[in-house]
Amino acid sequence: MRVRKAVFPVAGLGTRFLPATKASPKEMMPIVDKPLIQYAVEEAIAAGVTEMIFVTGRGKRAIEDHFDRAIELEVELERRNSRELLKMVREILPARVSCSYVRQTNPLGLGHAVLCAAPLVGEEPFAVLLADDLIEAKTPVLKQMVAQYERFNCAIIAVEKVPRHKTRQYGIVKIRGAASRLSAISQIVEKPAPKDAPSNLGVVGRYILPGRIFNHLRALRAEAGRELQLTDAISSLLEVEAAYAYPFDGVRYDCGSKLGYAQANLAYALAHPEIGTDFRRYISSGAWKR
Ligand code: UTP
Repeated sequence: MRVRKAVFPVAGLGTRFLPATKASPKEMMPIVDKPLIQYAVEEAIAAGVTEMIFVTGRGKRAIEDHFDRAIELEVELERRNSRELLKMVREILPARVSCSYVRQTNPLGLGHAVLCAAPLVGEEPFAVLLADDLIEAKTPVLKQMVAQYERFNCAIIAVEKVPRHKTRQYGIVKIRGAASRLSAISQIVEKPAPKDAPSNLGVVGRYILPGRIFNHLRALRAEAGRELQLTDAISSLLEVEAAYAYPFDGVRYDCGSKLGYAQANLAYALAHPEIGTDFRRYISSGAWKR
């Protein structure tokens, strides 16, 4: 079955970006001029996804408004004859793409956020994109993954090598085969200490999952009390079916951290069609040194 739906969990507290995230979600933070969530949605569209499902929390309105028509703004841009800007705001979403929203009332973890989307996803395969992992790639990463899904028909999880001392920040997979290509996962653990990590292959924020993952998430819920981890549900899925780790082609920026966010802004500003040349000149001038 084709991957038609994508889930965007955007209900986290974003504590690493306070105070910026006090009243609005971190996924609305821009890289130069475009919010992180729009990069993620564009990646899903490029992969053939037509139904976008947002799992929201605080700041829900900002994301809903972003993907909705902005009539007053359009009228004003028309009045000013700002054709390019008008086209830009009108074409954020192609007409064939729909958006729906479901609320995660408490931030009980990524697994719980994904489970909140179950009624909207149903039983079909779907993608999960974490917008704070921004990935620059010639072929958008989700499109690369959909191609793999169509070959193997099972869960495909994006991974990359991470420094050993950072394994506590990632889900870590053990694979059967070479780390350089798509391989079956034999084990997955959430945020292990470096000494316990089964490898240095970390899960990044792109997944294609079968609808069956919801049963595994529901079973975890029975344990209650703690955050529901998507990693634990994938580990449970692995007991009954295959899942593959996919070392994608592309450069990832961890925009959930201040350093990664700053790096992404630097890289995207240098490549930006409007300001790239001037920004490069500014960087080489050294005028920014304090
Ligand atoms: P993070 O682990 O980055 O957590 O979540 P966070 O709350 O967003 O940020 P910090 O660590 O407090 O700064 C990874 C992704 O999962 C979503 C987040 O929105 C983010 O996209 N998430 C996390 C939820 O939607 N719900 C949750 O309960 C937890």
